[in-house]
Amino acid sequence: MTRKPLMAGNWKMNNTVAEAVVLTQEISNRYEKEWAEAVDVLVCPPFVDLKPAKTVLDFDKTKVSVGAQNVHWEPKGAFTGEVSVAMIKEIGCTCSIVGHSERRELFGETNEDVNRKVKALVSAGLYAVVCVGESLAVREEGTTEEYVTAQVRAAFAGVDARDAAECVVAYEPIWAIGTGRTATPEQAEAVCAAIRATLAELFGDETADAMRVLYGGSMNVGNVEGLMAQPNIDGGLVGGASLEAASFVQLIEACL
Ligand code: PGA
Repeated sequence: MTRKPLMAGNWKMNNTVAEAVVLTQEISNRYEKEWAEAVDVLVCPPFVDLKPAKTVLDFDKTKVSVGAQNVHWEPKGAFTGEVSVAMIKEIGCTCSIVGHSERRELFGETNEDVNRKVKALVSAGLYAVVCVGESLAVREEGTTEEYVTAQVRAAFAGVDARDAAECVVAYEPIWAIGTGRTATPEQAEAVCAAIRATLAELFGDETADAMRVLYGGSMNVGNVEGLMAQPNIDGGLVGGASLEAASFVQLIEACL
């Protein structure tokens, strides 16, 4: 099974609307038509930047999709500060990141919340980029694979294979995020292979083979080739290196 790589930029809480328009325009200007066959490209700006970024890409007919960084599972109502799936869908988002470790650690997002968000997205025809990953303490304890695969099982509880097939899992070791300390290709591959084996248990081999598993955590121009050479790594979820068009484009090109 050859999976089409996905290079996804997670802008986190960076870029005002004016800045987002500039960055999106820079990415769009560098976009090469022939990439469309070889790699999917996704940018995940903050909520306020979604529509402006999408407008730039649509105007240029650039095949870069736009996703949110978070979403609420309820369709509407008294949830101050939250944004619904219908809201992001209407402005053209194809997906949302869910369960990023920063949301889990800083905003108390639980495995149950992640599962509700996955279900809300797939039932609206969007997909989830489900983030999983262990802390340094878990890695040092030697229980990384158990910890991460339990997060995968919880995220997809009650989701059927057809919906899961559209989703993406991003393995992001917490100790590698924004630290400049990347997992080695072998470390990342071992966990991504364990994730795929869990997806096969849950949804069967065919679905697991079709699902994309990304690596995230200080992915950059220097380490992308080694990571992308691994059989179970199908792309990246990139923070810091997605904030400059030049480096993001180099990561996209490493997937060709
Ligand atoms: P980083 O972030 O590339 O800056 O480490 C990745 C992420 O948290 O998605």
